[in-house]
Amino acid sequence: MLDVTRIGELRAALDAERAVGRHVGFVPTMGYLHDGHLSLMERARRDNDVVVASIFVNPLQFGPTEDLAAYPRDLDRDRQLAAKAGVDLLFVPEVAEMYPQPVLTTVSVAEMSAPLEGASRPTHFAGVATVVAKLFAIAGRCRAYFGEKDFQQLTIIRRMARDLSFPVDVVGVPTVRDVDGLALSSRNSYLSPDERAAAPVIHRALQAGGALIRSGESDPREVRELMAGIIEAEPLARLDYVAVVDADSFTVPEPLTGNLRLLAAVGFGRARLIDNVGVTV
Ligand code: PAJ
Repeated sequence: MLDVTRIGELRAALDAERAVGRHVGFVPTMGYLHDGHLSLMERARRDNDVVVASIFVNPLQFGPTEDLAAYPRDLDRDRQLAAKAGVDLLFVPEVAEMYPQPVLTTVSVAEMSAPLEGASRPTHFAGVATVVAKLFAIAGRCRAYFGEKDFQQLTIIRRMARDLSFPVDVVGVPTVRDVDGLALSSRNSYLSPDERAAAPVIHRALQAGGALIRSGESDPREVRELMAGIIEAEPLARLDYVAVVDADSFTVPEPLTGNLRLLAAVGFGRARLIDNVGVTV
């Protein structure tokens, strides 16, 4: 596996691969890799001839009071894990390489960025869409892999790639979980043992909401109340939101029907965790 730190170097390497007819798979990350990230890399390995992953903790997507400085990092370990997962090129740019001057041009995916994560983190998705647009512009024609774990992010990136005609196929990959249901996340490293033991309540609540819908409930308020009640019964949990939305439009269908997504964001200590599950009626 080759480390690449310069934009021009990555572009030249991928252009050379495509020139001989090879397909490029791309996995953008912020590092501190876990089995969720590795499942994206392994999928990219299976689908493509050459795999590039990026590790870049993107300052633009963190709010002023968020955890940019504390975000966990371990590049040496990440390098070993990425190589084992079959990554050929690891793009690890410095902040000054990605943002050599103040950023005046940003990408925002209007309505989709407003609810849920966008309501709690108003500048977050513009930061994500802007860095992913840059990464797509650097990588060029490829398949790019994103986790369903960040479902609103996946939806926004898919829309952005279409709206701006990036030559990128955006591929969604199912969420990887621990045995007790907790979705793997770099931010799980913030949890104390007690918080870690309590955190699977998020997935339990989402599962219960899904079961209620499958049993015939079509009122979104009832589903939200059930999920909120389960999370609020956990003393260590601070509920941010629970929601049930149409998986494509992020609006709330009433009565509930079609391809639905149940989502939650919950604080535990200094961690803020998100998760979601799908239900089709
Ligand atoms: P990061 O949180 O490092 O996640 C990188 C990718 O891994 C994302 O597509 C995310 O959805 C996926 N992922 C995280 N946990 C997962 C899990 N448990 N199962 C499956 N996939 C999982 O998301 C970002 O970084 C950034 O916002 C980024 C897109 C890189 C832009 O900066």
